Amino acid sequence: MSLLSRPLLVLSRSDAVKRLVSTMPVGAGIVRRHVPGETTDSVVEASAAEIEAGVRVTLDFLGEDTLDEAQADATVAAYLDVLKRLSDHGLTRMAEVSVKLSAIGQALPERGEEIALEHARTICRAARNAGTTVTLDMEDHTTTDSTLGILRELRKDFPETGAVLQAYLHRTESDCRTLAYEGSRVRLCKGAYDEPESVAFQSDLDVDRSYVRCLKVLLGGQGYPMIATHDPRLIEIASSLASRYGRERGSYEFQMLYGIRPEEQRRLVEIGERVRVYIPYGTEWYGYLMRRLAERPQNLTFFLRSLVSK
Ligand code: FDA
Repeated sequence: MSLLSRPLLVLSRSDAVKRLVSTMPVGAGIVRRHVPGETTDSVVEASAAEIEAGVRVTLDFLGEDTLDEAQADATVAAYLDVLKRLSDHGLTRMAEVSVKLSAIGQALPERGEEIALEHARTICRAARNAGTTVTLDMEDHTTTDSTLGILRELRKDFPETGAVLQAYLHRTESDCRTLAYEGSRVRLCKGAYDEPESVAFQSDLDVDRSYVRCLKVLLGGQGYPMIATHDPRLIEIASSLASRYGRERGSYEFQMLYGIRPEEQRRLVEIGERVRVYIPYGTEWYGYLMRRLAERPQNLTFFLRSLVSK
């Protein structure tokens, strides 16, 4: 983690800075590089272009940490809308959705988990009717147990629901073992939040080592691993582990974020790998973008420039 990463992650949770930045003219430049648009139309169009190029997609309606029930309801409605539109356009074989439970009520002070579970069921049902799946994003470590608990409940009726595990957490290798069963879709990422030493590895090297241990568990297990990283070394290691464990292409997939290393996404498709790109959309791009800047602070100059020029 670079010197600037931690302050940027702290800012990603700041309402005051969010209000300030969100009113500024950042319609172009760095925001658009990571978020193709604010509307359902724009994300369906961006999805169609990826799918045309042989890349699968998972769509994230931006928003998190809501303490407002009406906002949680609106997020569910947005997912139902996008699922219908993907289905109308015949895209659901290659497109699914990713959902943050904190955007659909998990953080509400009363009955938060119950509300999030009900909402998640509604989205899973709509996804199944449209012929596709849902993956539950993973947020900061204070929500991990709750999210995995909700996942367990959901999988009783919707076993196709995907999980996300973060290699930076000490617990994750063990969570991988628990979730590496047949039919279990697990996205492995490094983790994007500012986590304390008590629960998370702090050095890049330790996170990478944990990622490789988790890859071994997932690729050697019975589930469907979704390898979410842009890291060239980890992609190479994952490819050789996949052959070592006798994994056929299509029995796992690589995942990357929209706008990051698109040439590598195409290269992997060309050599026959299954690739999916995570496409966020909507007006609530602030927290997402700050996490991307924390990962690559050299992009901060582009961001600051786009704040002052339209
Ligand atoms: P890292 O950021 O350490 O970069 C490693 C190397 O990758 C760099 O040295 C460089 O070579 C290359 N690279 C990285 N970014 C680049 C860029 N912008 N341009 C060019 N090269 C670049 N997190 C979370 O906590 N919960 C979640 O639910 C998810 N979901 C999720 C879905 C998907 C599909 C992805 C790809 C990622 C997530 N994440 C996430 C985010 C994840 O935890 C992590 O923060 C980012 O993927 C960045 O980590 P990398 O593995 O790319 O490595």
